[in-house]
Amino acid sequence: FHVTWDAEAAEKGGYEHFMIKEIHEQPKAIRDTLTRRIVADSDEIVLDDIKLTAEDLKNIDKIYIVACGTAYHAGLVGKYVIEKLARIPVEVDIASEFRYRDPIINERTLMMVISQSGETADTLAALREAKNRGARVIAITNVVGSSVAREADDILYTWAGPEIAVASTKAYVTQLIAIYIVALYLARLNGKMTVEEYRVIRDELLKLPEKAEEVLNRKEEIQKFAAKNYGHKDIFYLGRGLDFAVALEGALKIKEISYIHAEAYAAGELKHGPIALIDKGVPVIALATQEDLFEKMVSNIKEVVTRGAKVLGVAFDGHEDIEKVVDQTVYIPKTLPLLAPVLSVIPLQLLSYYTAVERGCDVDKPRNLAKSVTVE
Ligand code: G6P
Repeated sequence: FHVTWDAEAAEKGGYEHFMIKEIHEQPKAIRDTLTRRIVADSDEIVLDDIKLTAEDLKNIDKIYIVACGTAYHAGLVGKYVIEKLARIPVEVDIASEFRYRDPIINERTLMMVISQSGETADTLAALREAKNRGARVIAITNVVGSSVAREADDILYTWAGPEIAVASTKAYVTQLIAIYIVALYLARLNGKMTVEEYRVIRDELLKLPEKAEEVLNRKEEIQKFAAKNYGHKDIFYLGRGLDFAVALEGALKIKEISYIHAEAYAAGELKHGPIALIDKGVPVIALATQEDLFEKMVSNIKEVVTRGAKVLGVAFDGHEDIEKVVDQTVYIPKTLPLLAPVLSVIPLQLLSYYTAVERGCDVDKPRNLAKSVTVE
């Protein structure tokens, strides 16, 4: 009697790949990242490793968010959220650009670096550059004791757990959660947010794990779209506001693991060039979760449909209006538009996963990519 023990299969916990396992771990990762920090019925935000005081914040006139890859995309959401809630100007930059461009940074700058591994060479160099120039640094990272965590002044850990697949999924959503937490913290600290406003967002944040689970339950729609469209050479992602930030992440995900050429555009930019690329049958993923921009998105969708695009819409439950203009829709449970990225990115992760599987790609170890880039 022999038992063959495949350690890797065991680690995958019954899933075919680490990536799909990690996608399914997102509800738990979101919950873990919120735990003890944002608490139901409490108006206090508890951040043990962030020492920044209201007095410190008075001396800050600008925030820089610096990161690479997927973490940079989380940073783009961060700009929107922090500016909206805390009313502090935020600039987001790619670490490899930031470090070489003589950025305007001093003691009045708050620098936020985001890094899953905490070891990315460019991100670490940007952190050091900021510190040399007198900025205070807050790090959002997933690895306790990593270089970024050791060198930053304040830390907020994401509790995603180990991420094995090269394409980042659960680390990204927990980075978003960390950003909401920091934004709320800053907004409470500088008095830009009332306690009533805080409670509305707190309560919605706490419902996200359950809603993320619900998005995962709806994966068949995505599987169907992937099965029909995996053979295309190009794919486009469109969105406005926060949806644009998520579109960029969606396009990166599909490039990374299925090697399809993908581009994300701010939908309002379409007519300034990209629309020339839209041809008969081209798949377009249109995100339309931002309610104040919904009608504008619908007009943009019409523009690509007229040119023959096959559109997959991503919208909140209750926005069935979108079906008049798209070929297929994936609905996500309703939340505040500000929090939509946490849910709307999940169908895009699933789309890249199922597309890569259909194409026979090595999902967890895509060609030419490394999980952590520790050299320049
Ligand atoms: C690599 C990974 C990406 C990741 C990026 C930044 O390129 O393949 O998934 O987003 O590095 O990594 P970090 O660990 O700093 O978040």
